[in-house]
Amino acid sequence: MSGRRDWSLVCIGCGSAAESELPDSSCSRCGDLLEVRMARDIGRGSLFDGEGPGVWRFKAALPFASDVEPVSLGEGGTPLVAMNRFGPSLGLDGLRAKNDGQNPTGSFKDRGISVAVTRAKTLGARALICASTGNTAASLAAYAARAGMGAVVVVPKGGVAHGKLGQAFAYGARVFGIEGNFDRALSTVLELVRSDSRFYLMNSLNPFRIEGQKVAAFEIYEQFAGVPDYVVLPVGNAGNISAIWKGFKELRALGIADSVPKMIGVQAEGAAPLAGAVASGGQLKPWKDPRTVASAIRIGNPVSWKKALKAIGESGGTAVVVSDEEIIEAKRALAEKEGILVEAASAAPFAALKKLGFPRLAGVVCIATGNGLKDLSEFGGDQRIETASGAESISRAIEGW
Ligand code: F0G
Repeated sequence: MSGRRDWSLVCIGCGSAAESELPDSSCSRCGDLLEVRMARDIGRGSLFDGEGPGVWRFKAALPFASDVEPVSLGEGGTPLVAMNRFGPSLGLDGLRAKNDGQNPTGSFKDRGISVAVTRAKTLGARALICASTGNTAASLAAYAARAGMGAVVVVPKGGVAHGKLGQAFAYGARVFGIEGNFDRALSTVLELVRSDSRFYLMNSLNPFRIEGQKVAAFEIYEQFAGVPDYVVLPVGNAGNISAIWKGFKELRALGIADSVPKMIGVQAEGAAPLAGAVASGGQLKPWKDPRTVASAIRIGNPVSWKKALKAIGESGGTAVVVSDEEIIEAKRALAEKEGILVEAASAAPFAALKKLGFPRLAGVVCIATGNGLKDLSEFGGDQRIETASGAESISRAIEGW
């Protein structure tokens, strides 16, 4: 495609159209977040009849010319799995998990990173940067390698699962550790992109990240054969809840869907600023020292909180908190009852179901955001292996099965 751009960047605060992209992705007038507005005539056919697997099948709904060459590893197109044992154990017959741990680097981040790296490539960027609790770092590192770009990730020292760090190193990223939490890592990265023009920002303030991640809504709509009643997902920096909500809203605006799901954000008890803002019906008060076993969502000052509050408010959803014990219990139950191994943050929405009290037949989709293979420490290793002297000893050990 050539000629006029059929999308724009609009500020969610003052509503002005951005003429250029600032390095920190903010509105040049008021400093608020930007979002992409598509002005393209997309019918049901052109949305769902695109070619290829995953995100780029939905190119018609993404802010690129049709001849764009995506930086892709085959992200998206993850299965929507019926929870046939875990669901009924909680009195839910219509529970499904969107297993985003099956993305190329093991988390939902890959959809958004693929799209944002593709944007970076079209702008001629040479180096990518993000702050991360681990999954964005792993994803960015992989896609930077794929695109032949430099990758720098800034992490809270001691606050990232080993598997995620290992991924970032394996794909060749430079990893810097900051004393303090994710929020401090992100403010360091924002300071850096404003002062050093070599870097392209890859955190979810970048509206192109959100564009990639909104595709999860299209996938769910197709796999669920309609709009579920509820979408339940963990909230950290609040990008994903904003993105999936944007996707469902676009389906409705295009006349493809006639309803939207209620969006339910789940946070850990020790890191729940968004839940606090929902409860108080207004401003977000950052938490200085967020603590939870779910390191991916150990975030006290979510940058996309305004978008997330809108998603919850406009959809008629809510925010719920769960304890670390409830998270761990749900993580084990999912693995043992369904064969789906998620990381702790991703177990949070499943842990929240007990509190939400949905009707038995409600259509509920929980987003299993990240693969549990990245962090197996709590399950133990060699010390848990049972000694077997031979075939007979194993038969004896499982007597009664
Ligand atoms: N689940 C997992 C597995 C995550 O890694 C994250 C965020 C979330 C949920 C929360 O998503 O931030 O869009 O609300 N991880 C980021 C990272 C912060 O750096 O990997 P969110």
